[in-house]
Amino acid sequence: MNIEVLLTEAEIATEFEESIEARDLPEKFFYWSALSVSAWKRMAMRADDSLRATWESLAAKAPDLTRAFGSRVPVISFGAGTGLKDRFILKSLAKAGRDVKYYPVDASQSLLEVACAGAEDEDCEALGIKADISSPMHLLLAADVSEAPRLFLMAGNTLGGFDPLDQIKHIAECVHKGDILILDARLHNGSETTYDPSPEERDFVFAPLTDAGLSAEDGTMEFIERKDPRLDGLLMLTRRFHASTDLRLRVGGGEVPVARGERILLNFRYRFTADAFRWLLTEHAGLRVVAELPSSDERYMTAVCIKA
Ligand SMILES: C[S@@+](CC[C@H](N)C(=O)[O-])C[C@H]1O[C@@H](n2cnc3c(N)ncnc32)[C@H](O)[C@@H]1O
Repeated sequence: MNIEVLLTEAEIATEFEESIEARDLPEKFFYWSALSVSAWKRMAMRADDSLRATWESLAAKAPDLTRAFGSRVPVISFGAGTGLKDRFILKSLAKAGRDVKYYPVDASQSLLEVACAGAEDEDCEALGIKADISSPMHLLLAADVSEAPRLFLMAGNTLGGFDPLDQIKHIAECVHKGDILILDARLHNGSETTYDPSPEERDFVFAPLTDAGLSAEDGTMEFIERKDPRLDGLLMLTRRFHASTDLRLRVGGGEVPVARGERILLNFRYRFTADAFRWLLTEHAGLRVVAELPSSDERYMTAVCIKA
């Protein structure tokens, strides 16, 4: 198995310590430990059935979509996770006789290993890229692993784990003439409601704190979804831990004190109206949407984009 490393485990560990000190944990730490990965898999299995079905039906169209590529199809997946949805596409292309090379890009070593092994089990050549997709430089380096035309994938509302206004611009900078980008988003009707997380989502969000030695009794969790005033139709779900007693978090062989009453910001998640998602892709990021696929339950939208 081949994995190229742009982001080392030592760098992630240092950044984790800094993030705990800053009381603000970015998305990548929620897929880092074994506990986080298993909590995420449990949550994803429960939550995104209809999205998996969309990617499966999209896969049937992948050979036609990439006809102009010729025989060779490089597939680069940003935030690949286990690569489950990507593999629908890989299998369909391979079945059509195309020469597929798969490049999963992710910060999580263990998820990258699963994505690469899954592709290799399907006799598809894979090179994992361990990188930080919130870094424009890492995105460009990962994209440069192959020349255009390339098929870029971004599945599982990965866009919603970052500031979507910045992130979609950085992603679009990787897309050149001839490339195709397929990405999905979690939809929302645009109005604020009380957010009620599932037990699986609670476990997933709390996992990095469990790793640091905390338990549910050490505080309360707040899940609040609010409109993002920068764009109509953009909703941001924030998740926060509120310490109800003085605590010491075990981090990197040391301890970080957290006083009673302090808050730790956990990873946020964006949801979109269909119009906001379209605007981000087109007006904001300069892409052209050539196809839209709503999921059967209309909770997700998947878009096929090219450079405008
Ligand atoms: C919501 S999951 C989606 C995974 C997969 N695409 C799917 O559909 O199941 C987001 C993925 O992005 C990865 N990720 C989160 N933050 C990242 C970062 N800053 N750099 C690289 N990967 C990141 C996570 O490890 C995880 O695999």
